[in-house]
Amino acid sequence: MKRTHYAGVLRTRHVDQRVTVMGWVHKRRNLGGLIFVDLRDRSGLLQVIFDPEVNRAAFETADKLRGEFVIGVTGEVKGRQSVNPQLPTGEIEVFAEELTIFSEAQIPPIHINDEDGAGENLRLKYRYLDLRKPKMQKNLMFRNDVTQAVRDFFNREGFLDVETPFLNKPTPEGARDYLVPSRVNPGHFYALPQSPQIFKQLLMVSGIDRYYQITKCFRDEDLRADRQPEFTQIDVEMSFVELEDILKINEAMLSEVFKKTLGVDLKTPFPRMDYAQAMTRFGSDKPDLRFGFELKTLDKVVSDSGFKVFSDTLARGGTVRGINLKGHGADFSRKEITSLEDYAKTVGAKGLAWMKFAEGELTSPIKKFFSEEEIEGIREVFEAGDNDLILLVADTLDVTLTALGALRVEAARRLDLLDSKELNFLWITEFPLVEYDEEENRYVAKHHPFTMPVEEDWPLLDTDLKRVRAKAYDIVLNGVEIGGGSIRIHDAALQSKMFKVLGLGEEEVKEKFGFLIEAFKYGTPPHGGIAYGLDRMVMLMTGSTSIREVIAFPKTQNAACLMSGAPGLPDQKSLDELSIEVVKED
Ligand code: AMO
Ligand code: AMP
Repeated sequence: MKRTHYAGVLRTRHVDQRVTVMGWVHKRRNLGGLIFVDLRDRSGLLQVIFDPEVNRAAFETADKLRGEFVIGVTGEVKGRQSVNPQLPTGEIEVFAEELTIFSEAQIPPIHINDEDGAGENLRLKYRYLDLRKPKMQKNLMFRNDVTQAVRDFFNREGFLDVETPFLNKPTPEGARDYLVPSRVNPGHFYALPQSPQIFKQLLMVSGIDRYYQITKCFRDEDLRADRQPEFTQIDVEMSFVELEDILKINEAMLSEVFKKTLGVDLKTPFPRMDYAQAMTRFGSDKPDLRFGFELKTLDKVVSDSGFKVFSDTLARGGTVRGINLKGHGADFSRKEITSLEDYAKTVGAKGLAWMKFAEGELTSPIKKFFSEEEIEGIREVFEAGDNDLILLVADTLDVTLTALGALRVEAARRLDLLDSKELNFLWITEFPLVEYDEEENRYVAKHHPFTMPVEEDWPLLDTDLKRVRAKAYDIVLNGVEIGGGSIRIHDAALQSKMFKVLGLGEEEVKEKFGFLIEAFKYGTPPHGGIAYGLDRMVMLMTGSTSIREVIAFPKTQNAACLMSGAPGLPDQKSLDELSIEVVKED
């Protein structure tokens, strides 16, 4: 038996042809002396009919078929009397003449059905079955379309796909490294790359000029719905370019990929917003602009108010800010507002004050604390009119912005304003070069220590580091950071200085990055680049809610593989060979 067609591709134009299809028994029904089998392969479903009058032996074998048996069927395509409009193959069926059972199957622990309702742990344990579901197959095929389109674009534009090593020197910056012990160098470890950053910069020193790679990166960090310990980057670097060149070619790449895979036309250039604006207007460095609810400040209006929470916060140098859920006042009952307050507390707020404006009337549990004039001031700031709900947070600037930034997204989610079909791209630019790391008690690079500071701000490197802006950018899609990059430092002296202002000692720098600084001394082109989180991109493009839906074999929140049981305990012999002694196990 040799397959002639995928099951899901057969149409009325194949009527009267003899075909051989192979796949899984999706469903089997015994009806009035006929056996109906829905045959499934990666292309879709096909109805096969076993009629004892066509072939009695095949009919009798078909009677033994159960769900997920793997079979091959040869037969004739016929037009169908009762057309099934739900199925692309719904206008035809195959009358089986021959049947081969390739393998039998036990009853699977999950239904091979998009709406099987199985919990995620069970799905991950039997991932190979989960991946049989039409939706998961579609996701993997779509992901392949995306990577293919990305490759087409970069190849045509003269980018070279160069592989970079996985076994590297540990240089903890940013997330924690995954370490790999070296057998031949006892006590020494490799680190898996958090990104190919240094290597792609060295490739620019080598004159590769335009590089891209679709490659795995490894980060031992706390996992969330949009993070995995190993994930895939579309990594890009270019020489002799400025920021504008990089943004432009990336807009062209994204436009082409979205057109080819989703059939949508993106409007370029994408809007841009600097980091400072994004934070004050939206409380986030990855604002979702599919809806409004901009943050506004009440600091001037309520500084003397009788509401102690506000006036005390301001007296301590804090701030009072809020958002107006314009036109949605009536959508939130008191109970629902309390639930929003509970949410606000999970994102750092101490409480959530609220005011409803409806038909010119203000309703609020804290109304009595404010004068007519203050209420008028609040109304003006928020342009509050009819059916509006204002949510207010008083705290330090950081806490207030973060809490309101998260709250505006949560409110939009509850109001069902987040349409995954809408594609809202945004560049965030002029990130601060550094941020304060509470744990380490020092400034660390916000992007990475190879990022070029904005020239205008160079004098501030010695005097006011936290105000230095970086030539760094993120690309945000619907409130998710799908990529980020920067123009790099290409001067050995400036790079050394950067390490110094970040508080890295000379010895430490020499030990960790000596080779990079050395390389910069032999002629380095100005360069810059970007890296995309491919998994996140495909998640958004498929309207999935988690990157695990677009990764074939993902890990859980505990960085475990429920199918294979990774990570595991190595045997004593392996440990001995690696000169490793495990002192603590759980
Ligand atoms: P960055 O650290 O911003 O930049 O990473 C680039 C993009 O990778 C994605 N990403 C992740 N996706 C899934 N799981 C994770 N744990 C994870 N971490 C990051 C994000 C992010 O935008 N070398 C630089 C890029 C450069 O400067 O060119 C870098 O790695 O979508
Ligand atoms: P309290 O005076 O603590 O009873 O709070 C009165 C109202 O103010 C309640 O609705 C609280 O949720 C709210 N509230 C308390 N603290 C804050 C804060 N830091 N920011 C905004 N609202 C707050």
